[in-house]
Order: sequence, then C-alpha cells, then structure tokens
Amino acid sequence: MPDKDCNLDGLCYNFGDAKGGSQVNTSRFLKACRGEPHDQVPVWFMRQAGRYQPSYRALRTRYTMLELARSPRLIADVTVEAVRMLDVDAAILFSDIMIPLDGLGIRYDIRENVGPIVESPLRRPADIHGMPPFQSDRLEFVYEGVALSVEKLAGVPLIGFAGAPFTLASYLVEGGPSRTYQETKALMWNHPGAFYALMERLCAMVVEHCANQVKAGAAAIQLFDSWVGALSQEDYRTLILPHMRKIFEALKPLGVPLIYFGIGTQHLIAEMARSGATVLGLDWRTALSQARGVVGPSIALMGNLDPQCLLAGPVAVQAGVTAILDAMARDDAYIFNLGHGVPKETDPTVLQKVAAWVHQYPKPG
Ligand code: CP3
Repeated sequence: MPDKDCNLDGLCYNFGDAKGGSQVNTSRFLKACRGEPHDQVPVWFMRQAGRYQPSYRALRTRYTMLELARSPRLIADVTVEAVRMLDVDAAILFSDIMIPLDGLGIRYDIRENVGPIVESPLRRPADIHGMPPFQSDRLEFVYEGVALSVEKLAGVPLIGFAGAPFTLASYLVEGGPSRTYQETKALMWNHPGAFYALMERLCAMVVEHCANQVKAGAAAIQLFDSWVGALSQEDYRTLILPHMRKIFEALKPLGVPLIYFGIGTQHLIAEMARSGATVLGLDWRTALSQARGVVGPSIALMGNLDPQCLLAGPVAVQAGVTAILDAMARDDAYIFNLGHGVPKETDPTVLQKVAAWVHQYPKPG
C-alpha cells in the first residue's frame, strides 16, 4: 500500500499502515465483499448495536447516546456485545454519522425519539463558506474506540463508517430529520456553488474520518447515504455522483471493501454502481436478483430483508429470509442484511435465529 495518496483534488492523506490481522482477511464477510468463494452466506445487521438490546438499554439509563459514542471503552463494549449476542460475521462501530461533525466545530444534539438536531443550520452560502477546516484530532475517541473494538473482536472484521455528503448535508441544512428535504434541495438548486462547496467540505471530512478508522483497524468502510433516494436520477448523476466518485477513489488505496448504502434507491442503483464502491447495500424495495442484472457481476450486493418482517411473527420472518437466500445464496458476492436498521421493538432472539438460519442455509457449490 502506498504511504501517501493524493486522489481528492488538492488533498493529501498519509494513510500509513492499516492494522487488522490475517484472521480478519480470511473471514467470509470480507471474502463475500470481494466476490471470493466462501463456506456460508455472511450476515450482519444495520443498527445491530442499539436500542433493541437489553444490555444497551441498561447502559442508556446511565449515559446519553452521545456520552456512549464519545467514550472509547463504551464504544468497544457496545460494538462487541452485538457480535457476541448475535454471532454475526461483522461488527459495526458504535457511533453516529453526526459524530465527525465535532471536527468541523458544528454543534448538535441527539434527541431521544427524534434524532440529530443541529444548533445553527447552514441555510445561507455565507454559513457554508465560513466553515472551519476539518480537524480529525478532535475525534481521537472514535479511533481509540475502533482500536479497542478490533482488539476485543479477536478476528471478527469491524466495519467503520461515515454518512455520505448528501445525507449529512440534509441534517446540516434542515437542522434535523426531514421528510421533504425542502431546504437542502432549495440550496442545491438555488445556490449550486455553495452546495458544491458544502459537498466538498463533507467529502474531505468523510475521506479523512474513514481513512483514520481503517488506520486504527477497521476492515471495511460503509457510507450511509440513507436519504439520497429522495433525489431524481438526473440530480443524483450531476450533483452527487461526482462527489461520491472522488470519495471512493480517495479511499481505494486503503484496500478495504467500500460499501455504499441508501434507501429508496431503485432508480439510482445503476449510477451508484459507477461510484467506485465495491459493495452496494439495498433496501427491501429492490429485488436483489434484479439489482444483480442491473449492476453486473463485479460489485457485491448486501441486503435486504424488510426490517418490519422482524416484527411480523415467525412464519413471516422465516419466509422472508428463505426467499432472499433462495435467490442469492449461490452468489459469492452477496452479504445478508436488513434493508435498513433493526427496529427498536425487535426481540433479540428473532435476530439470533435469523443469523443462525442464514448460516445453516446450504450454500450451493
Ligand atoms: O439509519 C440509517 O439510515 C443509517 C444511517 C444513519 C445513522 N445515523 C447511522 C448509525 C442515519 C441516517 C443516522 C442519523 C440518526 N442518528 C438518526 C436517524 C434520524 C432520522 O432522520 O430518522 C437517529 C435516530 C440518530 C441517533 C442514533 N444513532 C442513536 C439514538 C443511536 C443508538 C443506537 C440505536 O439504535 O438507537 C445511533 C447509532 C447509529 N447510527 C449507528 C449507526 C451506523 C451505530 C449502531 C449500529 O448501527 O449498530
């Protein structure tokens, strides 16, 4: 791996050596990300470390979500406990897409049952042009959390992550969760220069934050573009895809799988597959076998059980899991997951069963 890479215009990153042992590299999760043959279909769940877990809820009586996510020891405890309880093939770092914004000096809070709230939303071009440069040294607690998690995971690969620029911009511009993205779209259409500048600032942050997680031992990176499906194909192609390509191009020398996930992206998957991501995560609206036809053989697919299925009783869950495995188990470039995060009402034993069923399903040679 080269010591230094300059892929993002004008930005250089010294990636150094990535940690992570050989045990990690032979894992079925990483093999499937790379499309290599492996023994069983790998499985993990988005939001597997979270509120549906009794152990997590117990911690939350003593700490806020942000206190947990800012303590390396507690990050590692929550990250590792999900893997121990569920016997899944990958861990996802306990953190949030908002956390790296600490490094841009943006003040926000995470409100119970609401989500992220930004103190001073970025509405005017001047708000964007006045942003200070990203300081990743304010995020050492994340990278220490990664290193501690990797140590405790003893060979199970850890997925580091970041929000993708459009999804992050939606919180920064709206000031919180939104259904319409009214302000974000208005900025994008009325002030394209300021929107471009915001995306570039977020790209630089995302690249550095992800590279630092890999340096600390993360074995894969996932970019969450949860809300990008709200855009038209044309707006995605012209205003978002170029930024995504720069991010993945800059991360490529790290040599780890690069997962790109979004919700409601049926109309975007052909474009997303051209982003440079090596794995595409899909929600339940898109049939995985159809997506395979659209994206071709050289990109891995991840997904996509409807999370509501976990709440619908044993017959529905088993039918949902089986239908997906019948379609995808013989595909070496496939990872089982949900189509979005685990609902907070989920019975943990249902998730344990789903993981076990995926592992027991005969993988045709
Ligand atoms: O859900 C997604 O679409 C994935 C991408 C995403 C994350 N955070 C990743 C994440 C998004 C869109 C967010 C923003 C956010 N942060 C929301 C959604 C608000 C909305 O607009 O609907 C919320 C509720 C938060 C706050 C948050 N994040 C809490 C309270 C927690 C703790 C765990 C839980 O389940 O309650 C998180 C953790 C979190 N957010 C993780 C990730 C990848 C780590 C845990 C894991 O995935 O196992």
